[in-house]
Amino acid sequence: MSELRVFKAPRIEAEIRVPGDKSISHRVVMLAAMSNGTCVVRGFLPSEDCRCTVEAMRAFGIAIDQSEATTLVIHGQQGNLQPPNRPIDCGNSGTLMRLLCGIAATQPFETTLTGDFSLSSRPMKRVIEPLTQMGASFRATEQRDIAPLVIRGGHLQPIRYKMPVASAQVKSSILLAALKASGKTTVIEPLPTRDHTERMLSYFLVQSQRKNLGTGFAISLYGDQIPESRDFTVPGDISSAAFWLVAAAAQEDSDLLIRGVGLNSTRTGILSVLLRMGAKIREVIVDCDQEEPQGEIRIQGERLRGTLIEGREIPRMIDEIPILAVAGALAQGRTIIRDAKELRVKETDRLAAIATNLQAMGVEVVELEDGLEIYGGAPLIGARVKSYGDHRIAMAFAIAGMFAKGNTIIEDTDCIATSYPGFGEQLLSFLNPSEDSSTPIINQAEAIEKN
Ligand code: S3P
Repeated sequence: MSELRVFKAPRIEAEIRVPGDKSISHRVVMLAAMSNGTCVVRGFLPSEDCRCTVEAMRAFGIAIDQSEATTLVIHGQQGNLQPPNRPIDCGNSGTLMRLLCGIAATQPFETTLTGDFSLSSRPMKRVIEPLTQMGASFRATEQRDIAPLVIRGGHLQPIRYKMPVASAQVKSSILLAALKASGKTTVIEPLPTRDHTERMLSYFLVQSQRKNLGTGFAISLYGDQIPESRDFTVPGDISSAAFWLVAAAAQEDSDLLIRGVGLNSTRTGILSVLLRMGAKIREVIVDCDQEEPQGEIRIQGERLRGTLIEGREIPRMIDEIPILAVAGALAQGRTIIRDAKELRVKETDRLAAIATNLQAMGVEVVELEDGLEIYGGAPLIGARVKSYGDHRIAMAFAIAGMFAKGNTIIEDTDCIATSYPGFGEQLLSFLNPSEDSSTPIINQAEAIEKN
């Protein structure tokens, strides 16, 4: 298991790009596989989670050529998949397992989905319930509605379903199943969640409707539709950019430009929060050609102040709470995060992990049932902290280490590969900015300790 050793970093002055968006990479592979022809995908995120998605669609008989890490050629089969001859491994990815349930529900055979230790404890009832209403049948472990899951699909009925949790994964799972249902399916979300599936369905020329209910949206889709094959370029992932945004925002005089990043407003909550905390931010949408806005973010650091993060803002930054908690620890005053109970069922219990690690670094934190109260402004002290096998915890605390006195060691950082290949190298370039960026990674390897 590898670990990262991080030390106090100088101010950031740089222009960078981040790898492709994870949510969008999963979706484009799935929709292209369900389409009526060949799709070329560029900017694909070659991370562990997304690699599992490619393998999953291959297990369903879809031919996918990968000429280079970020380019895929996917040969859609009009929604007609082959029965997999083995269980499909979803690795660490909740998005993959839940969205795949929707796809497996459309097929008249049994599919078995498995996952790693963390994924095998995450709640699946949220997709089992609506897909069962549509006519799929499920077998799950120990009546606890957790993986491994066995799904038998075929002949689906349309449903009108009000989601009890604001979850883009559940919404997307139902919409993918609805592609093959025999009429109009409507999903109602209690709060707006990321809308990549809706946008990509529209890009692949699938007819759907979106109605703003004031709270969240009602999304309707008529069944018996086959997505039209299209090429697609994945924008950079704002959830990966988030780590560098906070690293720059929390240090006076830092100046960071991130190009080619996704700027979908259902994902940019972190920008609103950092702005409120005092950072200077300029966001420019460069294009929206493929239904997904993308462009650049320039951020300049300031003395940050604490803030309140709650309510309908939470789904817009659900994956950024670990790094925003670190921003809270670096800001003057109190930061309160509420309405974030969902964090307890992510790759790990993120509220507990954040609280434990911040406390280890000398920060006063109160763990709430659905959030955190962070008393920021005290100097961070380098410490040995755990990732809990969770990529976003590992990366958030690498950034905390950039501000701490002494060394911070983050244990078990292999998990970073689930979402951000190249994170370690980018981090090194900020820790040692004077080194020529063309220096081979191998010469910088001493900063990444391997056990
Ligand atoms: C995702 C949705 C979110 C997010 C996850 C990716 C997606 O989960 O936390 O990392 O791609 O749809 P929920 O839908 O469970 O909130």
